[in-house]
Amino acid sequence: MTTSHPDEDAILPPGGVAFTSFLTLYCHAMDAESKHPILHDTKSIEIAAAFDGMLADSVDTLAQNIRSRRIRSDIVTHIAMRAKKYDEYVQEFLGTFPHGVVVNIGCGFDSRFVRIDNGLVQYYDLDLPEIMAIRSRFFTDSDRYHSIASSILEFSWINAISGHHGPFLFLAEGVFMYLPENDVRDLVRRLTQMFPGSELVCEVVNKKWLSGIYRRIVEFKLQRELHLGLDVTYQSGLAHSNEMEEWDLRIRFLDDWSYLDSYQGRFLWLRVLRHVQFIRYTQWTVHYRLG
Ligand SMILES: C[S@@+](CC[C@H](N)C(=O)[O-])C[C@H]1O[C@@H](n2cnc3c(N)ncnc32)[C@H](O)[C@@H]1O
Repeated sequence: MTTSHPDEDAILPPGGVAFTSFLTLYCHAMDAESKHPILHDTKSIEIAAAFDGMLADSVDTLAQNIRSRRIRSDIVTHIAMRAKKYDEYVQEFLGTFPHGVVVNIGCGFDSRFVRIDNGLVQYYDLDLPEIMAIRSRFFTDSDRYHSIASSILEFSWINAISGHHGPFLFLAEGVFMYLPENDVRDLVRRLTQMFPGSELVCEVVNKKWLSGIYRRIVEFKLQRELHLGLDVTYQSGLAHSNEMEEWDLRIRFLDDWSYLDSYQGRFLWLRVLRHVQFIRYTQWTVHYRLG
């Protein structure tokens, strides 16, 4: 774990897993700038505007695409829907536990604390030191808002939050699929052991996308369509929503959510697709009680 040091001119080299946070940030900004925003993340507009100049000289395709707001509208919609749903998970948790502790693992440039602050929550944002260094230009720590600059996989960050009584809500939005399965399992087991009664909300991909032809489709999408680097690929997933229960007897599956659930009454065909397991459980969110 390191302390972040703001470097006014630094911007990440595009392509790596950390740069995926720029993509989600610009999706939030494009949603907020649209006629009918889903998420209303106005902070993202401010951050994206600051990045625009820094990305101007980049020859990287992804950097140029996001700077020019050339992101497919369905991706923007899905990322905004996902963030809104995670806001709702937090609001529901804080409805029951107003003094609860929320830990956003792999936060990127998300500004959820600004959106959900109830005046009582203890909120932690955690990401790689290079992201947290850039974040610190836009977000300031306080007595209830804390940033942790650390790899998720250096488990010493857990000590930083263990002084609280909890209960804890852990979020991992668009993150676990980029980490090796053993590491995700180790982390979830550790959280279960150390924070009994806590909750975990995380996005997962279906395991079938990790091998064979499916893997090649994922790599095509990440690298050819989104222009992410060769090392950005899905490394872990679940076969079904209950799978984490097999990792520790104390883990209990609570519910799951797919993008298709949030289209509500808008399109009949999407309501139908919700019930097609193959599609619903391609990339979705699971919610567990740990311990
Ligand atoms: C797709 S972005 C999602 C960001 C944010 N959760 C959101 O939805 O806007 C994935 C994030 O996971 C972070 N990440 C990936 N591997 C990580 C690791 N080992 N430790 C800490 N953060 C990591 C990346 O830096 C990036 O910010």
